[in-house]
Amino acid sequence: QTVYLKDYTPPEYLIDQIELDFDLDEQRTRVRAKMNVRRNPQSAADSVALSLWGEELQLLSIAVDGRPLRDSEYLVGDEALIIHEAPQDRPFEILIENLINPQANTALEGLYLSSSMLCTQCEAQGFRKITWFLDRPDVMSRFKTTLVADKAKYPVLLSNGNKTGSGELDNNRHWVSWEDPFAKPCYLFALVAGQLECVADEFVTMSGRRIALEIFVEQHNVDKCSHAMQSLKNAMRWDEETYGLEYDLDLYMIVAVDHFNMGAMENKGLNVFNTKFVLARPDTATDSDYEHIEGVIGHEYFHNWSGNRVTCRDWFQLSLKEGFTVFRDQQFSGDMTSPAVKRIEDVNALRTRQFAEDAGPLAHPVRPEAYIEINNFYTLTVYEKGAEVVRMLHTLLGAEGFRKGCDLYFQRHDGQAVTCEDFVKALEDANGVEFKQFRRWYSQAGTPLLTVEQDYDAASGRLQLTLRQSCPPTPNQPVKQPLHIPVKLGLLNPDGTPATFEFAGERHNEVTLNLTEAEQRFSFGNLAGQPVVSLLRGFSAPVTLKMPRSLDELAFLLSHDSDTFNRWEAGQQLATQAIFQLIDSIELGRPLQLEPIVVEAYRKVLADTGGDLSYQALLLALPEESYLSGQMAVIDVEAVHQAREFVKKTLAISLADQFLELYRQYHRDESGCFDAGAVGRRRLKNTCLSYLSKLETPDSHRLAEQQFRGARNMTDQISALAAIVNSHHPDKADCLDSFYRQWQQEALVIDKWFTLQATSSMPNTFANVQNLMRHPAFDMKTPNRVRALVGAFSQSNPLHFHAANGEGYRFLADRVIELNALNPQIASRMVSGLAQWRRYDANRQSLMKQELQRIVATEQLSKDVYEIASKSLA
Ligand code: ARG
Ligand code: ZN
Repeated sequence: QTVYLKDYTPPEYLIDQIELDFDLDEQRTRVRAKMNVRRNPQSAADSVALSLWGEELQLLSIAVDGRPLRDSEYLVGDEALIIHEAPQDRPFEILIENLINPQANTALEGLYLSSSMLCTQCEAQGFRKITWFLDRPDVMSRFKTTLVADKAKYPVLLSNGNKTGSGELDNNRHWVSWEDPFAKPCYLFALVAGQLECVADEFVTMSGRRIALEIFVEQHNVDKCSHAMQSLKNAMRWDEETYGLEYDLDLYMIVAVDHFNMGAMENKGLNVFNTKFVLARPDTATDSDYEHIEGVIGHEYFHNWSGNRVTCRDWFQLSLKEGFTVFRDQQFSGDMTSPAVKRIEDVNALRTRQFAEDAGPLAHPVRPEAYIEINNFYTLTVYEKGAEVVRMLHTLLGAEGFRKGCDLYFQRHDGQAVTCEDFVKALEDANGVEFKQFRRWYSQAGTPLLTVEQDYDAASGRLQLTLRQSCPPTPNQPVKQPLHIPVKLGLLNPDGTPATFEFAGERHNEVTLNLTEAEQRFSFGNLAGQPVVSLLRGFSAPVTLKMPRSLDELAFLLSHDSDTFNRWEAGQQLATQAIFQLIDSIELGRPLQLEPIVVEAYRKVLADTGGDLSYQALLLALPEESYLSGQMAVIDVEAVHQAREFVKKTLAISLADQFLELYRQYHRDESGCFDAGAVGRRRLKNTCLSYLSKLETPDSHRLAEQQFRGARNMTDQISALAAIVNSHHPDKADCLDSFYRQWQQEALVIDKWFTLQATSSMPNTFANVQNLMRHPAFDMKTPNRVRALVGAFSQSNPLHFHAANGEGYRFLADRVIELNALNPQIASRMVSGLAQWRRYDANRQSLMKQELQRIVATEQLSKDVYEIASKSLA
């Protein structure tokens, strides 16, 4: 059953208030919901029936205005409860009692058991697994919640808003009541019950209000909360300073749970987090983990305004809150660390992963038009491309204009459930501008292709650029319209200095061109010599830029471009071109040789120390295999791997002294504090180690092992172990073993241990993965574990997953079929390893298709998996 955006109608009824009473128990939780319902004056429908969503619920009783309903007055189906005749002329009260079984809930949606705690996940449509309700985001209600539970098992009882009372009951039970003063959609409801420790702090808002901050974790994790807490305080301050937005309740709670389908959830006043995005101690978490925690803590906090105070009218508008909030968390993380590095990381992820989605069978617009299962639309397109769309609006309006627009948006729509259109309209109205064409970014799928033609006239000192845009067809969208693409541009003088130029009658160092036509010419004057063009600076639009450049020109840009993004990009293109030359040689059976200019360019990067070390590490990192594959007509996994390895090894051999010197310069025996200086040192040093490990000499093996054995922080330890695992290191087995023994009590570290082995490029990886499936620490019911092994192997190990005999594909399909019965959301995420089948050779295509067909033919297939697998085949 497909749901369409065009079919949207306002809700027929509204529920202004709901009182929820939970009698909590692992297997028999009793829910009592008292709802104040009335007809929605906004609704044109005239049916007298009222349909409430509900799934996997056992009804105990139902009454309207205190009168129990007779069997003939309602109908309970698999997905809904229908009251045939609801009162039309007055508000009324529905009282429902039902039972649920949290322990049987392996889908982790609704109320479920994670280790020994009870918790909820309601977005997108999990509330209907708690009780019957108008489970849609444009129905906003005030929630009062009372939790009753055994005092020993569940000493801590949490829900949204402020605590309003608590007390003791018979049989060692107790109760706690909560009230959330803000009306909200039910997807923001949450409850948590468990034996939890509270790490507490405080934040004073810009208007002087004191907010209690509480992070709840299991006892053994109390020592891993300080970074999350600091990140939360930073986020609160940042949102005040950047957007003028202040927190609105007296209490902000975060709970970390082991079993979670996604990263985290912004439930009002009570965020529930995957432990992965809360817990960190220098010896258990890497610098990247620290960054992700800061980003996700920020993300969920920022949702309090972009998502909760102003929410979505319907789930097609998901990017309204997600794209905007991702943009906000990207800005935040950039401001906390280095904007240049953050931007590169974000673009890199977008281009390797979202671009693939946008070019494949699952491509959809930022605002999708149809879905079978909404959980399948928490995608890279809705999140990351959605963030790029907001970023372009920011670029077009400038920081000040964007802020003005956001102010109007929050003021105009506070307390409402609105659309992407409302967001754009607020930005327009606040700035007196018009984004008619720009809106196409919300409705048109696919990554636009941008090409450039240059024409320099020496006599007049003028440069003319012809920009052309096109966009390949995507499912259901054969023909595309031109988009409004902001193209940031700078020019470099032949000596590498930034050029000042004339554009549209004014002098500039940098301009943002508004490309709106399929083909458009731009002219730049006052040039002393032919400039080198630096285009799409900062990656000002999510497009593929095709601009033929010589290796010399790329090396020139790598040394001189003042735009940090384009400087990095030049290095990436330089390496990419070199790798593709080698791929050609491999495919033609010719000997391999790396262009000397590439070695010289990297030599220069290595020598250019003293700046931002994290940035320097990024300059040294070769493009990933998946990024390279994305640019091939027919992906040749082995050639891509072999060519990239050849470049890495050649650079390691040619520049061994430089890599070693830099390694020694920055290697410290340190406990691993998370400050920009130390992080940069570790990044650069470990990048050098990764190159040096390609030498496969006794010295290089010793270097990695010394770092591994001596490491006092997880970044250094895991980087060294990665170097060992991905080489022919003689002590590999022993190192993996000792790492396991050291960390077996730390689930998040053991996840890393699984992932390292699942992503190894060494022979035997597939057999290892199969063995790891039988390891006592592996568990199909723990999403983090499944992602660490099955997800990592199928999504981050192209070489072995795409083995020509199809064993990787068969393995994945088997796992998907198993997971389908346990956790449809996780199962459907795993299918993506097969979705790109059209990109491979005929043999692999047919093997992958075969597995997709086997999945589609599975009995009792969930909507989640069915939608992804069948659309992949279509
Ligand atoms: N709103 C959450 C976030 O982005 C994600 C929750 C998604 N949950 C799901 N079941 N699809 O922070
Ligand atoms: Zn979000």
